[in-house]
Amino acid sequence: MQTLKVHHIGYLVKKMEPAVRSFEALGYEMEQPSSYDDIRKVHICFLQKDGYRIELVSPASGESVVSGLIKKYKNSPYHICYETEQFDEDYRKLTNCGYVSIDVPTPAPALQNRNVVFLMNAALGMIELLEK
Ligand code: NI
Repeated sequence: MQTLKVHHIGYLVKKMEPAVRSFEALGYEMEQPSSYDDIRKVHICFLQKDGYRIELVSPASGESVVSGLIKKYKNSPYHICYETEQFDEDYRKLTNCGYVSIDVPTPAPALQNRNVVFLMNAALGMIELLEK
């Protein structure tokens, strides 16, 4: 699907500050400082290096959407986000070709309240679709 452009790699971390320090020590630069997403109960920030954008996501409480995931994955990458100018159409295409929606399109405060939705694929795990 040529309309999908990689926007970021989502990276789960248990604690934001030590993760940021460690990524910066590797040469990553802060693109967008940590902000709180009250819908998902997570802290989110964006770092960049060599043209790659990493989204750090850490749970703010036990009710966070990632609290269960972090027990399973620890500190690790867990999704690739694809940006598209045809959000509704691509969302429909993905669900028609084996992707299962795990939530509904919801505004992302850390991304100018653009809509995002998470989908699972049996062969490659979780992806995120982001409205451009
Ligand atoms: Ni993401």
